[in-house]
Amino acid sequence: MLRSFRFGGVFGGLSGLSVRSLSKFVYVRLSGERVNVRGREEETLKDLLEEEDISIGACGGDLVCGRCQVYVDEAWKGKLPKPTEEEDETLETVYKGKDTSRLACAITWKDAYDGLVVYEAPQKPKKKA
Ligand code: FES
Repeated sequence: MLRSFRFGGVFGGLSGLSVRSLSKFVYVRLSGERVNVRGREEETLKDLLEEEDISIGACGGDLVCGRCQVYVDEAWKGKLPKPTEEEDETLETVYKGKDTSRLACAITWKDAYDGLVVYEAPQKPKKKA
């Protein structure tokens, strides 16, 4: 597995040029279409999806709207860091479709997640308070 890197030092003129990792995950749309999405360390799944022109979420990744919810494949259950209290609260407030529900804006990509599969979650109306 290759890692992202930047040219620097003697290649100072090329600084800022970065190469994307070869790690990737699969985003499965509600239609069943599978989209391969390249990973990049330290970017969220939401950001990576947007680089593939897949718009997800409505609050800019602030853990507020819950509209970037995805279902993590059962095979990955327990392999990602646990959701924070803030993420859990948002999922419970909006609509937590499954026990593998996560917010795409709350998962920061690591090359170790290569092969991850996440499913688009259907949008549900907000729960009434
Ligand atoms: S984009 Fe709003 S909670 Fe993730």
